[in-house]
Amino acid sequence: MISAQDMDRRATFYKKIEEEISKAKIPHVIDSGEGAYLTINGKNKLNFCSSHYLGFAVNPRLAQAASNAVYKYGIGTGYRTLAGNHRLHLELEEVLARFKKAEAAIVLTGGYMANCAAISTIIGKEDIVISDELNHASIIDAIRLSQVKNKLIYKHLDISDLENKLKEAVELAKAPKSDGQTLLILVITDGVFSMDGDLAPLPEIVRLAHEYGALTMVDDAHGEGVLGNGGRGIVDHFGLHGQVDIEVGTLSKAFSVIGGFITGKKELITFYKQKSRQYLFSNALTIPDTAALIEAVKILEESDELVKKLWDNAKYLKSEFARLGFDTGHSKTPITPVMIPDEEKAREFSASLFELDVFATPIVFPMVAKGKARIRVIPSASHSRQDLDKGIAAFEKAGKDLNII
Ligand SMILES: Cc1ncc(COP(=O)(O)O)c(C=O)c1O
Repeated sequence: MISAQDMDRRATFYKKIEEEISKAKIPHVIDSGEGAYLTINGKNKLNFCSSHYLGFAVNPRLAQAASNAVYKYGIGTGYRTLAGNHRLHLELEEVLARFKKAEAAIVLTGGYMANCAAISTIIGKEDIVISDELNHASIIDAIRLSQVKNKLIYKHLDISDLENKLKEAVELAKAPKSDGQTLLILVITDGVFSMDGDLAPLPEIVRLAHEYGALTMVDDAHGEGVLGNGGRGIVDHFGLHGQVDIEVGTLSKAFSVIGGFITGKKELITFYKQKSRQYLFSNALTIPDTAALIEAVKILEESDELVKKLWDNAKYLKSEFARLGFDTGHSKTPITPVMIPDEEKAREFSASLFELDVFATPIVFPMVAKGKARIRVIPSASHSRQDLDKGIAAFEKAGKDLNII
């Protein structure tokens, strides 16, 4: 017999989510491409917060490559293991491996997917992961997916705490695994931490991990196309080729398309292609995405001009913000957080900037801890000096109006 309470269950559920969604702010709708500027409500706004570091979102070469491929091959593909393993997918993996100076690459449909694949395919309940406390949400979810019991979280960037956790892991690893297999210890870090723009001390992490017999994984989402020679990422930045076991990247930030990838030793990548559920049970990238990405890698291999322009712009922006008295944290990359700890003030500041035709959204809890709100500015290679000056002037005006500077 179904009770009245049972009958109410659905109604209660919908009432609850209605309450929840009424609190959230609806994002702006963009009516243009996402270049140095974008159009919102019919008005041109300076784009100061997207992760299109190199301007590829509106790059004509990428658009042409995507369009040519669509006319040649159509749009959709399928499961790669069944009926969708297109020549372009293989070409993209080849060029990415070459670009990253890695043995091999596997491409998935997002950085989130790539993190899930990278971790949950090799880590089981009885293994051990050691993870920086500020690692990206997709790493946290990937660890959950692996159902690993022993998750050791070390303090952000803290090498001595990492060593403590490695010692603890080695002790835990003395107990044999129920299937007699060797227990894995995997150290995982973001390369660039996306909210602050600080860098993982990768050489020390790798040295310690090797000392204690652990595997290493770096999520280089915000380092691809940004760090290293010609944008080859954090491993290249530190000259650690061949020493990091698993490198994960996204193709949605500097590459400005969609997708994620893992690079590493040939055998490991083949293992992922045979075992990863995210690869086996999910569709592949579309034709235009794949063709555009191949073109993006080609552009980066031809010249480092865009990467240099990005860094010039970032240096200029940071020094101007500092001159005006803004607190821009301790970023080592083009990510430029303008700290406005109070959430309400950060929202107000962003709204004032919007009135001044600058699009720079506030970052608040849960994306950052409470009391650490900010406007995260990300300049791109498509901004001219004039564009940056326009943004800086708007920050100065809004900052003074709201007594932030
Ligand atoms: C550090 C990090 N890892 C992974 C991701 C997820 O990448 P994607 O958007 O390609 O799924 C992001 C994106 O925000 C990120 O910042």
